[in-house]
Amino acid sequence: MGVLVTGGAGFIGSWVSKALLEQGEEVILIDDFNDFNYKSTLKDDRIRILLNESKYRRKKRYHSSDKKLWIYHADIRDEKKLRDIAKQHKIEKICHLGARAGVRRSLQYPKVYYDVNIFGTLNVFQLAVQQKIPSLVYASSSSVYGGVKELPFKETMKIDNPLSPYAATKKAGEEMAAVFHNLYGINMTGLRFFTVYGPWGRPDMALYEFTEKIIAGKPIPVYNQGDMQRDFTYVTDIVQGVIKALEKPYPYEIFNLGNARTEKLSTFIACIEKELGKKAEKILLPLQPGDVPKTSADISKARKLLGYQPRTTIEQGIAAFVEWYKEYHKIKDAR
Ligand SMILES: NC(=O)c1ccc[n+]([C@@H]2O[C@H](COP(=O)([O-])OP(=O)(O)OC[C@H]3O[C@@H](n4cnc5c(N)ncnc54)[C@H](O)[C@@H]3O)[C@@H](O)[C@H]2O)c1
Repeated sequence: MGVLVTGGAGFIGSWVSKALLEQGEEVILIDDFNDFNYKSTLKDDRIRILLNESKYRRKKRYHSSDKKLWIYHADIRDEKKLRDIAKQHKIEKICHLGARAGVRRSLQYPKVYYDVNIFGTLNVFQLAVQQKIPSLVYASSSSVYGGVKELPFKETMKIDNPLSPYAATKKAGEEMAAVFHNLYGINMTGLRFFTVYGPWGRPDMALYEFTEKIIAGKPIPVYNQGDMQRDFTYVTDIVQGVIKALEKPYPYEIFNLGNARTEKLSTFIACIEKELGKKAEKILLPLQPGDVPKTSADISKARKLLGYQPRTTIEQGIAAFVEWYKEYHKIKDAR
C-alpha cells in the first residue's frame, strides 16, 4: 500500500516524502517540476536526496532500487495521466500538496493559480473517488483568513474575505473537499499551513531571499515599513502534523498548523543577521496588495485531535536553514 504525494518535489512535499519513506511507506510522488516560482534544479536536488543518488537525472518515471519511491514527472491537470499512474500502484492515501504557491505572484498570474489549484485539485479529488482511495489530506493555507481582524486565527472563524487569488483557490479547495466528503464519503483533512520555513526551502520566500541578499550585500525589502508579524512554522513541525493527519483520518476536518508563537519581522531578520554574522541593509516599503500584516494560529484543535506539537523555536529553525543554505551554495564565510 502506498501514499500518493502530489507536489512531492516541492519544499514541504519532499520533507513529507522523506518522513513517509523513513516510516517504511511506499511513496508515489508526482510533480510537474515547473520553474514558475523558483528554478526546478532545486526540485531535482531534493529528489536526489530522497533517492540518495547524486547522479539522478529527471525522467518521466523513475523508482528507487528498493521500489519504495516512485517518481512521476506529471501534471495534476492531466486527468488521464493521474489515472494511469494510480492504476500501477495500490494507493491507500493521498497527500495533496501540489499547487502554485505564494500570495504575491497570484496577483500577477491569477489564471494559472486557478487552473492548477482548482482544476488540478479537482482531478486529485476525483482520482480518490475513481480509485476508491478512502482518505485524503490536502494543503490549505493561513491566507484563507484574509481580512479576518481577530487574532489568533481559529478554524471556526468565518473566512469570507480572501485578499488574493491564491487565498481564494485555497478556500475553494476546502469547499470542494466538503463536497467530496458529502457525496462520496471520502475522509478529507485540510491543513492550513502558517509560513513554513527551513532547509530546502523556497527561494521565493522571505528567509531564502533575505539570506541570499544579505550575503550578496544587497538591500532587503521590508514590507509594511517592517510592521509585520508572522506565525513562522519550522518544516519538520509541519511534517509531523501532516503525518499525524495521514495516520488519523477524520471524515471532514480542517486544522491550523502553525507554531502558535507570532514573531516580529525584526526578530526574524535579527536571527538571520546573527547566523550570518552580517547586518542587513533594509528598504522599508508599504504593505503589498494581497498581504496581511499579521498572522497568528490557534493550534488547540490540532493539538487535541491530532496530537500536533510544534517544537522548533525561530532561533533553532533559522540556524538550521542558514547552515543548510551555506552548505548547499558552498559558502564558507557569509561576511
Ligand atoms: N510554504 C508555505 O509557507 C505554505 C504555506 C501555506 C500553504 N502552503 C501550501 O503547501 C503546499 C506545498 O507548498 P511548498 O511551500 O512546498 O511549495 P512548492 O512550490 O515548493 O511545492 C509545490 C510543488 O507542487 C508542484 N506543482 C505545481 N503545479 C503542479 C502541477 N500542475 N502538477 C504537479 N505538480 C505541481 C511544484 O512543482 C512544486 O514542486 C502548497 O499547496 C502550498 O499552497 C505552503
